[in-house]
This record gives sequence, C-alpha cells and structure tokens, in this order.
Amino acid sequence: MTDETSALITGASRGIGLSIAKALAAQKISLTITARSREALDALVPELTALGSPRVITVACDMADPAAAATITETHRRHHDGALTVLVLNAGVGTAGRIEAFPANRLDKTIAVNFRSPFLTLQAALPLLRSGASRRPALGAKIIVVSSITGVFAEAGLAAYGASKAALLSLVDTFNAEESANGITATAIAPAYVDTDMSAWTHGTVAPEMMIPADDIAHLAAALVNMSARSVVGPVVVSRAGTSGYHA
Ligand SMILES: NC(=O)c1ccc[n+]([C@@H]2O[C@H](COP(=O)([O-])OP(=O)(O)OC[C@H]3O[C@@H](n4cnc5c(N)ncnc54)[C@H](OP(=O)(O)O)[C@@H]3O)[C@@H](O)[C@H]2O)c1
Repeated sequence: MTDETSALITGASRGIGLSIAKALAAQKISLTITARSREALDALVPELTALGSPRVITVACDMADPAAAATITETHRRHHDGALTVLVLNAGVGTAGRIEAFPANRLDKTIAVNFRSPFLTLQAALPLLRSGASRRPALGAKIIVVSSITGVFAEAGLAAYGASKAALLSLVDTFNAEESANGITATAIAPAYVDTDMSAWTHGTVAPEMMIPADDIAHLAAALVNMSARSVVGPVVVSRAGTSGYHA
C-alpha cells in the first residue's frame, strides 16, 4: 500500500494509548502499536481493524531498552511505505516517592522510559515524519507527547515522575523551534489523573469517576491530527472538574 496515513503509538495496549489508537483507527489511519506484552497487542488487531484501520502492526519491546526506538521505527518504516504521519509518544511509567529517600535505580528507570525513550524515538522517527509531512503538505506530520500535569505543577512525592514529564514539555518546545517550519508540529498533552490502570493506586483518595476519561485525551489527539501544518498548539493542560486545576 502506498501513500497511506499512518501512526506509531507507544504504550497502546491499554489506557490512554489504546484510546488514541481506537480514535485514529476510526479515522482510517494505519497503525503500528507498541507495548511490552505481545499477547495484549495482538489481541487488539481485530478490533482496531474493524474500527477502520487499513493495517495494524504490533511491536513488543521495552522502552527502557535504548535499542527500542530503532526497533519500532524500523518496523513502522518497513510496513508503512517509509513514512509516518502521526507519532504518539505515550508509553510511560508512574512512580512515587519523596526526594529524601528516592532510590537511584528507580530514578534511572523513570528517566529511561519517560524521557530518554521518547527523545530517541522522536530522533529515530524524524526521517519518516519528514516523508509523511511531504505526502500531505497542508496538514503535515504530527507528534503528540503524553506528558502530565505534574510536569507543569509540582506535587509532593512526584519529583522524579514530574521532572521526567517536565522534560518532555521542554523537548516538545525545542522540537517545534527546530522543525515546525518544515511541516512537522508537536504538542504535549498534560493531564491530571486519567482513569486507567496507572492511576488505580490512588482510588482511595480520587474515585475513578472523578478522573478524566481516557477517551477525552483521545478526542484531543484526534483533533490535533487534523489541524493544518500552519498552527502549533502549545502544552494542553487537562485538569479534573472540581479541582483548582493545579492538582493531579
Ligand atoms: N493515568 C494517569 O493518571 C495519567 C495522567 C497523566 C499522564 N499519564 C501518562 O499517560 C501515559 C499512558 O498512561 P496510562 O495511564 O494509559 O497507563 P497504563 O494504562 O498503565 O498503560 C501504559 C501503556 O504503556 C505500556 N508500557 C508501560 N511501560 C512500558 C515500557 N517500559 N515499555 C513499553 N511499553 C510500556 C503498557 O503496556 P505493557 O505493560 O504491556 O508494556 C501500556 O500499553 C503515560 O506516559 C503516563 O505517564 C497518565
């Protein structure tokens, strides 16, 4: 198949990544979806195909591995005609702990999955995104990065996680300064608690029905994909109704 619109979504086996995959499948976008669990990914192929995605490729790999960026982008290149239209950098690890006793190995893992991996994947995908942008110049190619409200507003116990997410905001800004004039634009989405597996640990204080639905983040992502190459959308902070807006 040639000239297809395609998306590469990391961490797409459940939660926010899966909601975005479904929304893009419904827009008839071909997909490469990644996560660690091959079984979980492969089980989603029939559903995403039925929603409208012309082809769905799965890649199982751990984003903590520095080689993962090359693996997933090379797989996408081979199956999607050498081009990428939408890169969704979503895979991430949640971790909590006060600074005074935070273990160095957990800090390394957090930075590896939440920042190094998106950075390396963005870098590896750039030639494919340039090719994708050239095939639909009016819209260009898009990058959507799932950051967190903790990257914007500090919260006790979330220093490592919040710093990794704040780093993504800076990465997106710098990327736009370097590349947005060439048809590739990036936007960071920074939500408060979203009702997924990752936030289940806090159900004792925040009930799931008080959290942001994952589909709301997918609606945003789907809208960004359809904007022209002439606009750059800055960080989108999504807070929970009923809060001051400064809390996860
Ligand atoms: N939920 C929230 O409250 C919230 C709020 C703000 C931002 N976020 C951010 O949103 C993103 C998605 O979170 P979520 O809530 O949707 O989490 P989730 O439901 O736990 O899903 C995480 C996804 O990422 C994959 N993943 C996790 N670690 C990975 C690794 N090391 N390598 C490759 N894939 C990995 C998981 O699949 P496998 O386990 O099979 O690898 C899964 O597909 C994360 O970046 C998170 O920080 C979440």
